[in-house]
Amino acid sequence: MNIFVVNGPNLNFLGKREPEIYGNKSYNDLVNFILAFGEMAKIDFEVYQSNSEGEIIDIIQNNYQRFDALVINPAAYTHYSYAIYDCIKSIDIPAVEVHLSNVDAREEFRKKSVIEPACVGKFYGKGFNS
Ligand code: DQA
Repeated sequence: MNIFVVNGPNLNFLGKREPEIYGNKSYNDLVNFILAFGEMAKIDFEVYQSNSEGEIIDIIQNNYQRFDALVINPAAYTHYSYAIYDCIKSIDIPAVEVHLSNVDAREEFRKKSVIEPACVGKFYGKGFNS
């Protein structure tokens, strides 16, 4: 099985951004965590990050056919990007939405995900384990 992991804006700043919420570990630590889990579980992960909405859409459109599933943390785009929602709806592999933090226990705007209806599942609030 191979899974495409796509991370959205500001996740490259893990370790620097709001450590009280996102922890002290870096984005590289997150990538290594995912790849190590993949080795253990015999899943091939490819991990990508972008700060740009259009780039996220392009990378999904151009690569999804190589994967069995998409795992996406759209970061702030979660809460308002109908373009990423449409993109996920247009591909024929299952997508799962993930967040490091507990989006339900933070600001009001984070409780709404416009991506969620396009996904088969959602994991959040467990840091790297999400
Ligand atoms: C996030 C939660 C979003 O609300 C936020 O904009 C992020 C990260 C998370 O992983 O907890 O950038 O997706």
